[in-house]
Order: sequence, then C-alpha cells, then structure tokens
Amino acid sequence: MKSAQLLTNLKKARGGKNLSVSDLVSINDLSSTDIKLLFSLSEIFKKFLEKGEKKCDLLRGKTIINFFNENSTRTRASFELAGKHLSADVINISGSSSSGRKGETIGDSARTLDALNSNLLVIRDSNAGTPFQLSKLVCAPIVNAGDGWHEHPTQALLEAFTLRERFGQRKLKYLFVGDALHSRVFGSQVRLYKKLGYELRLVAPATLIPKDVEKFGVEVFYEIKKALEGVDAIHAIRLQTERAAGKFVATGREYSKNYCLNPARVALAKKDAVILHAGPVIREFDIRTEVLESPNCLVQKMVENSLPVRMALAWLLITNPKKKINPWK
Ligand code: CP
Repeated sequence: MKSAQLLTNLKKARGGKNLSVSDLVSINDLSSTDIKLLFSLSEIFKKFLEKGEKKCDLLRGKTIINFFNENSTRTRASFELAGKHLSADVINISGSSSSGRKGETIGDSARTLDALNSNLLVIRDSNAGTPFQLSKLVCAPIVNAGDGWHEHPTQALLEAFTLRERFGQRKLKYLFVGDALHSRVFGSQVRLYKKLGYELRLVAPATLIPKDVEKFGVEVFYEIKKALEGVDAIHAIRLQTERAAGKFVATGREYSKNYCLNPARVALAKKDAVILHAGPVIREFDIRTEVLESPNCLVQKMVENSLPVRMALAWLLITNPKKKINPWK
C-alpha cells in the first residue's frame, strides 16, 4: 500500500470527521466518537505497517517535538518512530540536557519550542498537570505522554486497541493488580474503560489503593484469589518506586509475594484471560517470566500497536482544522 492509497483509505474511514479536541491531556477529553475514529484509523495504519511499509508522506513538512523530562524507553521511541513513519521532522529533547537545568521554566521552554513552529508537542513530566498547563501557553497541539501520578492517555488507548483486536466490543471483566495509587496509566485506563463499559476490579495493599476509587466504578479486593475469579484480563501494575511507592509497603519482598502474577494465580482467571502490563516490567517481582512469555500475554503486542495508534493520533491532531487560539496575540 503506497501513501496515496493509504490516504484514500484514511479519508474514507475519517469521513470528514475530526477529533473534538485539539490537545490530548486526559482521556476525559475524548468522546466515544473520538475513540471510535482513532481506533478505525489505527486499524488502517496497522494494515499499512503489516505490509512491510514504513514510510508514508502524510506529515511531510510538519514538525513533532518530543519533550521528555522523565525517563522513557517505549513511549519516546514509539512517538519518535510514529512521527518518522509519517515523514514528519522529529526532534527529541530530554530534561537532563535541556535549558530547564539552567533555570528556564517549563512554560518558557514550551513557548520556545512553539516559536520554532512545532506542529505537535509531546510532553512527559514528573509533575501532574504540566501538559494541561502548557496546553494554555502554546499554539501547537499537546499530547500528554505521562504526567506524574495523573494520566498517560496514549498508553491506555493502545492497550484498549489491543484488547479490541482480541475481544472485539465485549465488555470485559478487567482486574488491576498492584500499585494503582502511583500509576498514571491506571488513571487513564479507569477513565477509558468506564467509557467502554468494562467491569473494573482492583486488588492491592490498602496503602496503594487510591482514595474513593469505588466512586469511579472500581470494585476493590484485598484478596488476590477472589479478585481473579472469572476475569477476562489481568493488568499487572509495577510498584512505582521512583514515586517512593516502596515506603507504602512493609517490604518489597512481601508485596511481591502477595501480588506478583505467577502461573498459579493466572490459572484462577478465565481460561482465555489475557495478561497486560504497561512496562517497564520488573521480572519475577511484579510478573513471573513464565507469565510474561506465555501466549496470552499481550505486552509485546501492545508495544507493536503503539505505533499505529500514535500515528493515527498525530495525524488527526496535526490535520485538525480547528486551530488553537494563540494566547499571546
Ligand atoms: N509505558 C511507559 O510509559 O513506558 P516508558 O516509561 O518506557 O515510556
């Protein structure tokens, strides 16, 4: 499939529609129609990539800036490749080598990047709320690539896309296991899966359960065996030690003994239950190698699917005719 054919297929699936938003800061920003549109275009990009194609010129002449103030392997590589597959010029800036180290505020850094005519700014930051704050300061669309404990919307979207491939529109019984309190992926997943009608469960030590999580429609369990009964999907959440989560459990060894996903635990879920993890994975601590490398584990598939999902999102945001108002004019 060449670029021209790809564009024809995308335009047909898009049917003149645009996302209802010009930034993606939170899953709350997206309507059900937005999510459907994003997934139908992701399917087309996926078919394109599966044919062995890597480059199309849909975003030739556009600039994407990945501004990562926190460590990342998969999100940064995936946004960079997604932009390059679309033939955009992609620049990566990391906090450790940016002028933030010399005292520049993140707002001024973002305004500087905006003045370079950036067409998309992908932001990762350890502070919750940074992408929202920057979305009010710059003209370029903003994508939240993870902000503190708050949200990581594209990670949730690529997982939902992967589950949709496996289960179609089924409303799944879905279990989170582990440190939900510090997990921004959990923040986006709960918002997304409620929109998709999933039945959500969480099992974790009491100290790692977000306050009032039941009000968001999540059923809380304290006993992992009970929580696993009859679930279609199990998502292992890493203990987020970079956010001092180690202080919320007596010992890491005890946490792992009680919550690590091992084959015996997985056997308590439905027969065809799938295993998920946003990564990075801590082998033998939050998930056992036998589970991670089992056929029902979708971790690698999620990474593969991150490309078409982020290509679709970048294309939709950059070609959205709804321009943001320049806050400085
Ligand atoms: N899932 C995720 O955000 O991984 P990285 O920190 O490697 O980007």
